[in-house]
Amino acid sequence: MGVDSLGYVGLNVSKPTEWANLLEGVFGMEARPREGSNAIDYRLDDHHHRFTLYPSKEDSVAVVGWEVTAEAKLEELVAELRGRQIEVIAGSQALCEERKVRKLYSFTCPMVGSNNEIYYGPLVSNTLFNPRRGISGYKTGSLGLGHIVFWVKDLAASVKFYQDIMGFNISDYIAWDVHDAVFLHCNPRHHTLALMKEGPGPAGGLMHIMVEANSIDDVGYAYDIVRDRGIPVMLDPGKHSNDHMQSFYLQTPSGFWIEYGFGGREIGPDWEIKTYDQPMLWGHRPLTV
Ligand SMILES: [Fe+2]
Repeated sequence: MGVDSLGYVGLNVSKPTEWANLLEGVFGMEARPREGSNAIDYRLDDHHHRFTLYPSKEDSVAVVGWEVTAEAKLEELVAELRGRQIEVIAGSQALCEERKVRKLYSFTCPMVGSNNEIYYGPLVSNTLFNPRRGISGYKTGSLGLGHIVFWVKDLAASVKFYQDIMGFNISDYIAWDVHDAVFLHCNPRHHTLALMKEGPGPAGGLMHIMVEANSIDDVGYAYDIVRDRGIPVMLDPGKHSNDHMQSFYLQTPSGFWIEYGFGGREIGPDWEIKTYDQPMLWGHRPLTV
């Protein structure tokens, strides 16, 4: 039971031009403007889109889409949520067409406060992803879009919600300073979700989203582009202690970060949960522009 991957993320953004430059110029994503709407979908693999930007006066998470592999599993999850007195709303046909999925339901996450959608049957295309710069592409497929990290008020209760209802399993923990973090998986990707105790960021806040490249060179070239353009680098290149992702972090025009990574290890059947005393093996030092 539960979700199978992170499917899509929609963002309300107050600086749409800067965002477009970031997603296209740095990440090579393919813009798919909509007719009769100022929202822009972005493609990065065989899915119709994985990101959507909604030009807005504010910067916030519009929607987090969680993919479920089959309709029966989706209905089972809806029943579980409703059984816990969480209001779940069936998505209209118009909303399903906008999201390019067969069926969806939405609910407000009681822990993070985010607008969550659960769905199955995403529209995919056999035509190749046409990146805006020369990249090898993104590691997605059954591993999903990547991972997402939120600050939460009640870490234990939030982990329990995502374990018991949303079907995640714990990958490991990192405990350092005040930044207690719990990493959770719902497929072989080391973590699709991480939850951190509020402190440096406010409860409900999005800390970062990670996308994983098929090549370290995609990440390296992006790092050069980011430095050349003066985009704020928040953590310089490094390797994480738990998922072994080699990555760097940049600050988006909305304030939260994007981690651009390569080489993350996957959860296998003999996985042992560990607690790490620091988040990095090497690197990931704060860097000022
Ligand atoms: Fe990350």
